[in-house]
Amino acid sequence: MKVIEFKNSELKIIDQSALPDREVFISLREWQDVAESIEKMKVRGAPAIGIAAAYGYCLGFLENKNCGKKKMLEGMLKVKKGLLSSRPTAVNLQWALERMEERLLHSATEYEREDIYAALVDEANSIKKEQLNSDKKISRNGSRYLRRVGKNLNVLTHCNAGAMATGGWGTALGVIKNAYKEGIIRKVYAGETRPRMQGAKITCYELNKKSVEHELICDTAPGYLMYRGMIDAVITGADRIALNGDVANKIGTYQLAALADRNSIPFFIAAPVSSFDFEIDTGEEINVEYRCECEVLKINGMLTAPEGTRAVNPAFDITPADLIHGYVTEKGVIKKPDELQ
Ligand code: MRU
Repeated sequence: MKVIEFKNSELKIIDQSALPDREVFISLREWQDVAESIEKMKVRGAPAIGIAAAYGYCLGFLENKNCGKKKMLEGMLKVKKGLLSSRPTAVNLQWALERMEERLLHSATEYEREDIYAALVDEANSIKKEQLNSDKKISRNGSRYLRRVGKNLNVLTHCNAGAMATGGWGTALGVIKNAYKEGIIRKVYAGETRPRMQGAKITCYELNKKSVEHELICDTAPGYLMYRGMIDAVITGADRIALNGDVANKIGTYQLAALADRNSIPFFIAAPVSSFDFEIDTGEEINVEYRCECEVLKINGMLTAPEGTRAVNPAFDITPADLIHGYVTEKGVIKKPDELQ
């Protein structure tokens, strides 16, 4: 699935905010446009925003490359800060930008400006390629693990942790697609994911393209389905995982984990190592993004509540580590993040 492409100093992304209605690619030539596309969620999903930001950093270099070294480095710091502030929760954004900055600082002492640009593009390409490789390994590790849960499984996923969210194949949805192909999964339930509807609009779009049997459910339905024995496992992605295993992921994830626990259903997180933040001890330290109340108060321009109603719109929540049965990573399935260190 084509999601993010960089060629001739132009970043092309599929506009995820237009799916499933329209499959349109937008062309970005300035780093500010990349930051805006991340902020407006035209590109979204933790690994995908990291990749987009890495290419945005390359475009930022083009803006600064003709300045003297000191000015160029100052300019690149501004580019990094601008891209970083586009969305605060996913650690992948910070991780990718730090990697890009390291490559810049290393190259700036040794190379000519054109070579520095080539080095930066090379680094961004590597981030994208490595993500695809991780996705594939996560899928295989996840399928192997799910096999132990049982056969003909009905699984629930939330938001979108597929190809659109990683620029490649997907983490949680990668596992699901792989396990479906191997006959381990029978059916997928996709939660709508109010207010942005990533589950309905993007996950169902991807499952449809891959002919994976699925049904869309309201965010309010999982408790009943679990109670009726209709869900065998829950698997989602992650935006940031603290050292103790607490996970920031799309709003609604915590209630799924709590309900899964109540109904003795295994709850897994699938995420690359780049989603682990070893600098923070617990989920309490994670900066959860709050988005505009307008996302809750209107659907397709129509009011969802009387004029003047106020809404609060946290985009993510924190799932405590004790509700999580395992973390499916490219290095294997682990029980605690410190196994990766
Ligand atoms: O606000 P979004 O759509 O960027 O949130 C996405 C999620 O919460 C995903 O589950 C997460 O980024 C993992 S994507 C592999």
